[in-house]
Formats: sequence, structure tokens, C-alpha cells
Amino acid sequence: MLASVAVLAACSGEHPQTTFEPVAEYGEILNKLFANTFWWTIFILVLVEALIVYFVFRYRERPGAPRPKQIHGNTTVEILWTVIPAIIVLFIAIPTIKVTISTQQPPPEDALVVEVIGHQWWWEYRYPEYGVTTANELVIPQGRNIDLKMHSADVIHSYWIPRIGGKRDVNPHPRPAQGEHAPRSNHIQFLVKEPGYYLGQCAEYCGTSHAIMRAGANVLPAAEFDQWVTSMGGRFRGNQPNEAGAVAVSNSAAGGPPAPAGTPSAPAQAVPPTDSTLATIQQPAGPVQAPLSPEAERGKQIFTTKACIACHTIQGTTARGVLGPNLTRFGARRYVGAGARPNTLENVIAWIEHPAAVKPGALMPGAKVPGGGMPATNLSAEEIRAIATYLISLK
Ligand code: CUA
Repeated sequence: MLASVAVLAACSGEHPQTTFEPVAEYGEILNKLFANTFWWTIFILVLVEALIVYFVFRYRERPGAPRPKQIHGNTTVEILWTVIPAIIVLFIAIPTIKVTISTQQPPPEDALVVEVIGHQWWWEYRYPEYGVTTANELVIPQGRNIDLKMHSADVIHSYWIPRIGGKRDVNPHPRPAQGEHAPRSNHIQFLVKEPGYYLGQCAEYCGTSHAIMRAGANVLPAAEFDQWVTSMGGRFRGNQPNEAGAVAVSNSAAGGPPAPAGTPSAPAQAVPPTDSTLATIQQPAGPVQAPLSPEAERGKQIFTTKACIACHTIQGTTARGVLGPNLTRFGARRYVGAGARPNTLENVIAWIEHPAAVKPGALMPGAKVPGGGMPATNLSAEEIRAIATYLISLK
């Protein structure tokens, strides 16, 4: 009874972390490999169990039956039960080795490189191509090759978004400077076919809050992704191979010569040129932000004058800390605390009041509780509400 309750419960509800509905070829080939192994093992299970049941029944002890004939060794049978499993192992091993090699290939030239840095217990994402940094939610374009270069700032983590594919270890080595590529990174590369939000999580035990070191991949249509880059204060540097057409159009529309690839001062744009995007790329990098409410404005004042800026960056403000997650466009994220709770005003308030109560072991100090070697922030309830309102409004 208990077992069937457990099984039925596992079959109910949504399956945001299923591996059976892959949205990338990476997940598809892993899925096929799993199916191959699964059906071979099911075949063996059914065959062996059926033979056991048959022999138990057929040769069971009967009252008055004579002692069965005793035999020792049968060369034919022994060869058979060695050769048949060996052949089955080959049928499993050859596809496994092929998939292992195919998922370790170097990424294509046009791949979007995202540096993934594991921290106890959150994820940092850096986009060297755009000069953008974000946290916990990986934002990527649909239909473009993605190359995740992954390392850890502390202990071993493992990056896993089940519907995309994976998982792969995220190993520690010294934190690289902004924009520098980390040596000896582990890679995963993939191309997501369908836009959507795909949940994932750390898959290697890494300490107290390992279970709430979650990740989300927000896969956007290409044009929306470019808008996201702009809204994060990112810049389009050089010509991207898959955007060459759009770049040429924008240059000829502006009457200028084609921008040389890799020239930082000659930003190319990936979305069709409109007045607003042209205006954006002429401005210095800074996120597009709707006007703030008076309370959010007050929250911004507090955020940028109190301890928050020691650890957090919000693009376009004086907050430039790099120890904690980058909070630019925080309000657009679905969760607070790397998947600890949904991103609502109440939950953000709870987080700022006492982070370790939401996420055990979190380094951020609370209003009355020190943390991460820092004293308590001593923020009043009203100040906390204002900061939370401000953060939520960063969409
Ligand atoms: Cu990071 Cu488990």
C-alpha cells in the first residue's frame, strides 16, 4: 500500500524537471541512450524472472518424487551464457561511447559563451560577448548554440537543467577577473529549440543548502533575447555570424561603413533598426528601467547607501559589489534565493530580514543576524519593505 502511494504520488502534478521531454538535441541523445539501456535491462529482467518462475514451478519438490539427476558443468550452456551477455553489453557500450564522444565535442564558432560560476548556493552567469552578468536564471536565445564554460568559486557543484540535458561537474579554481576566461572549465554545449522556462538544480552535494541551489533557464526568442541584453545594459560587440544580415542592414541604413568585427567602440545591433534601439546603442551601457514609485525610489536610496552595495551590483546604479548575486532586473526573476521561494514582495522581505531562515547557511547578513563575516544590517522593517519594493520593480 505504502509503495503504491509513493509511486502514484510521483506520477501526479507537473514535471518541470523531467528528462523525458527534452527541448535540446543534447537531451534527446541522452534520452535515446537511456531508452536503449532501459529496454535491454527490461528484456533481461523479464527473461530471467520468467525462467526462474518456470523452473521453480516445473521442478518443484513433490511428495514421493525421486531425487533429480545430478549434473556438473555443461560447456554449451556456459559458452551461451557468456557470449549472449557479452553481445548485449556491446549493444549498450557502443552507443554509450558514441554519445560520450559526441557530447564532448568543441563548441561551434558562433556559439554564445556563458560562463557559469557555482557558489554556495547560487549560480552566477557572465556573458563576455555582451558584458552582462546575472544570477540564478540563465537567459539564452532559442535556436543559437550555447557553450557553458563552468567552474566553481568554492566546492564542487554540478549543473543540471534536465529538459536541456546534462549534468556536468562544476569544479573549483581561482575566481577569474571580469571578462577573463577561466582555465580548465568544464563545458556543456547545446541548442534549445523551444522557448520556455526550464527548471534545474545543482546535482552534486555541496553543503547545507545544496537542495535549494536551483537554476532556471529562461529561453527567449532571438529578438526578445537581444532586448534582454539591452535591458541589462549589455552591448553588442562585433558582428555575430548569425546576425550579420541585421548588422549590414543597420550600417547601410546609417550610411556608415561596415563595423570591423571585435571593435568595442562600434556596436552592432542584432534587432531590426528602430528609433528606440538606435537611441539605446548610442547611450552608454545602462539598463532600461521604468520610472520607480516613490517607495521604490526610497528603497533605491537605502540600497545604494547601506551595506547592500558591498556585495551586490545593480547595473546603472552605484551598487558595484561582486561577492553576491548581481541583482540587475531582479524583479524579472521567478525566484528569490536561487529557487528558495517564489519572487514575491513578502518573500523578498523575509529574505532581507533573515536570509539564513529562508536558506540555511546563506552568507548574507540579516537585519538582526550577522552573516558572511559582516555585522547585521540593522535595517528597520520599513527600510526592508522599501528595498524589497525597489528590487521587485527592477523588471
Ligand atoms: Cu551546489 Cu549542490
